[in-house]
Amino acid sequence: MPTRSHVHEEIFPVSPAELFSILLTPSAIRSWWSASRAIVVPERGGIWAATWGDSENDPDYATAATIRELDPPRRVVLADYRYRAKGGPLPFRADFVTEFLVSEHPEGAALRVTQDGFPAASIADEFYAGCERGWRDTFAGIRRHLEGRGAPWAPEPTPLLYGELAAWWPLVSPPEEYAEEAERFRRALVEACSAPPRTLLELGSGGGHTASHLKQWFEMTLVDIAPAMLAVSRELNFDCEHQQGDMRTLRLGRTFDAVLVHDAINHMRSAAELAQVIGTAYRHLAPGGAALFAPDHTRESFEPGVDHGGCDRDGRSLRFFEWTWDPDPADTEVRAEMVYLFREGTGEVRCRHDTHRYGLFARGEWLKLLREAGFEASAIAGESGETGESAPLIFLGRREL
Ligand SMILES: C[S@@+](CC[C@H](N)C(=O)[O-])C[C@H]1O[C@@H](n2cnc3c(N)ncnc32)[C@H](O)[C@@H]1O
Repeated sequence: MPTRSHVHEEIFPVSPAELFSILLTPSAIRSWWSASRAIVVPERGGIWAATWGDSENDPDYATAATIRELDPPRRVVLADYRYRAKGGPLPFRADFVTEFLVSEHPEGAALRVTQDGFPAASIADEFYAGCERGWRDTFAGIRRHLEGRGAPWAPEPTPLLYGELAAWWPLVSPPEEYAEEAERFRRALVEACSAPPRTLLELGSGGGHTASHLKQWFEMTLVDIAPAMLAVSRELNFDCEHQQGDMRTLRLGRTFDAVLVHDAINHMRSAAELAQVIGTAYRHLAPGGAALFAPDHTRESFEPGVDHGGCDRDGRSLRFFEWTWDPDPADTEVRAEMVYLFREGTGEVRCRHDTHRYGLFARGEWLKLLREAGFEASAIAGESGETGESAPLIFLGRREL
């Protein structure tokens, strides 16, 4: 059967040995490949396996390959792949072979990945294109992982609320509560765009509650990193396109009239991460378009405090308590400790604790990063609502025509 291959090469500012080691270290593989678990038996004939998804016993996707060649610190070849995906098997037979080749480079080390064995037939076109995108994201993951080296590697835990407890999201923050904010965003975007916007990309769209109020006005594409949140959103917004992706590195290869990043932007904890998301928004905007970012707080508006909420819905009940605090006012990170009490039907009340880590940036820092990305930047102050509390600042970036 005729086959085709895919080759991707990039340079990294580390030694070849360091680059090679992350290809065989399970904790590193989890980090750069966003896998949930990885197992490596690092020897010729050994195993190289990983799974994705929140459930250990029922992963969304699992792959295992045999290490066919191992020549440290230069070359590793994986073959005899076995896949298992919840979405079903591939629509074609394929014998993939992946070669990782590390070589010295004046700026550090080069990594060249060659994946061979894609059927040349058109039935494999979509999968081939997906793998091309996947390798770009994987290399971005490797770069991020290497930039974070030095600190002991620790997996970034997904908040329970976006994984195992995602189905409770509509009881934590019901869609109805988003109507007023969504209308504020709609008006600001329409005003900021040079022509009436038709297409809208939302990054970090979560359970799609904001989107549920905007989709009547725009053709929406919803992107979130958490599969469980996308599943919640698909139920509510079955009429919108959904994509899984990391808003820091997402590259859809097309542009939109407007981009929205609502409260998901709170999850960017360093200026570098915030700049990455602003860059993603810029790249996905057509000239004349506008991007809107709506953090819960800026450094100026943040105050530690407590909140509570929750509701009953469809035979389930949830109440939460939230304690927001700032462990180190000198950095750009604050925390929200959440406690959820929840109960299904007449069942027992269960309780879970969850920690959300949020970024916090001054107004001036926001505007600087927007300008550096190429945007014409502004901040809009919110009007006071019925409670007398003023709405948080929103940041707008206009991309020139
Ligand atoms: C508070 S929820 C968003 C809720 C949303 N406004 C709604 O209407 O349901 C924050 C979301 O940000 C997502 N998120 C966090 N980091 C992300 C990233 N790097 N890329 C994409 N989504 C991300 C989380 O998975 C989560 O679904």
